[in-house]
Amino acid sequence: MTMMPLEKREITNSRLVYGCMGLGGEWNGDQLTKEDYITAQKAVEAALENNITMFDHADIYKHGRSETVFGRLLKEDPGLREKIVLQSKCGIRFSEGEVPNRYDFSEKHILSSVDGILERLETDYLDILLLHRPDPLMEPEEVASAFSKLRESGKVKHFGVSNMNAAQIKLLQAYCDEPLIVNQLEMSLNRLDWVEHGVLVNQKEGASVNFSDGIIEHCRLENIQLQAWAPLAYGLYSGRDSKNPTEAIMATKKAVNELAEKKGTSAEAIVLGWLMRHPAKVQPVIGTVNPGRIKNCAEAVKQAEIMTREEWYTLYTASRGKKMP
Ligand SMILES: NC(=O)c1ccc[n+]([C@@H]2O[C@H](COP(=O)([O-])OP(=O)(O)OC[C@H]3O[C@@H](n4cnc5c(N)ncnc54)[C@H](OP(=O)(O)O)[C@@H]3O)[C@@H](O)[C@H]2O)c1
Repeated sequence: MTMMPLEKREITNSRLVYGCMGLGGEWNGDQLTKEDYITAQKAVEAALENNITMFDHADIYKHGRSETVFGRLLKEDPGLREKIVLQSKCGIRFSEGEVPNRYDFSEKHILSSVDGILERLETDYLDILLLHRPDPLMEPEEVASAFSKLRESGKVKHFGVSNMNAAQIKLLQAYCDEPLIVNQLEMSLNRLDWVEHGVLVNQKEGASVNFSDGIIEHCRLENIQLQAWAPLAYGLYSGRDSKNPTEAIMATKKAVNELAEKKGTSAEAIVLGWLMRHPAKVQPVIGTVNPGRIKNCAEAVKQAEIMTREEWYTLYTASRGKKMP
């Protein structure tokens, strides 16, 4: 098995990541307001107070304003940058005039995106850069060249991907000298395909599972850190009302809240603890800006450690809405 260099292991050893997509105001806003700044300040403070020291961005979040507001916080606290792990993503481009939304892994676009990210974040380097969504026109040689230049210039220390399958990662890795150390995917108690894919091997109903073949196993074997986006399922089991509550959603909500009460913890901690209890050591990327919810999420580290197999399967079968095959 490939051994991960020490530096790489350290960089992803935070059990929770704070997802910054909620910072920077509304998607359709045009500039940062004082209120956006205060929201960001309180959210980042809550994350740090609860030992969450890794932050996930993307150049597109709020059209750059998530990074801009975070950059202001970094500027005001010069010691902070060295204490945190800063990750951002590039590769998605919004529509411009007649040109539609698209993905762009060209060397030119990757290099210019990183310059924009660093400027907005008011920092000299990113700890990790992810490619946001697979670009069908990807030329791996171009990505490899961009990564080498970024690494050599000190602008980016490590590289990874998001929403990629095992074959795409293998193709890209074959060209890159830099190891790909992260893959960020949607995984949660509501988005179960990452578990169902393995459970339903050789079962007819497995045909309906929409998840990349062998991606969890590939990442585990290659020491690629799996990160889960939308891990709270937008609060579906921890307080937000569902517009379309199915029996499975209601049963899962009940199971989550009963377990939270029994353990004296929050519903968020159970929802995230369920993800983190999996031996793949998934890192949830939490997107709430609410300081109370951030604190609740932090309790998941302990809940993941103490969750029994029976509790894990109780939550899983409630969410899949039927018994195991
Ligand atoms: N790689 C990718 O393609 C990709 C895609 C999407 C997201 N991401 C990353 O993943 C992070 C998390 O994703 P996410 O924010 O979409 O999902 P999430 O963490 O599952 O959910 C957070 C959202 O749910 C709301 N929420 C949570 N609990 C709630 C409750 N009890 N009542 C009402 N609302 C509640 C939050 O609102 P409040 O803020 O008001 O709590 C927030 O809007 C993002 O910040 C981003 O960094 C990556």
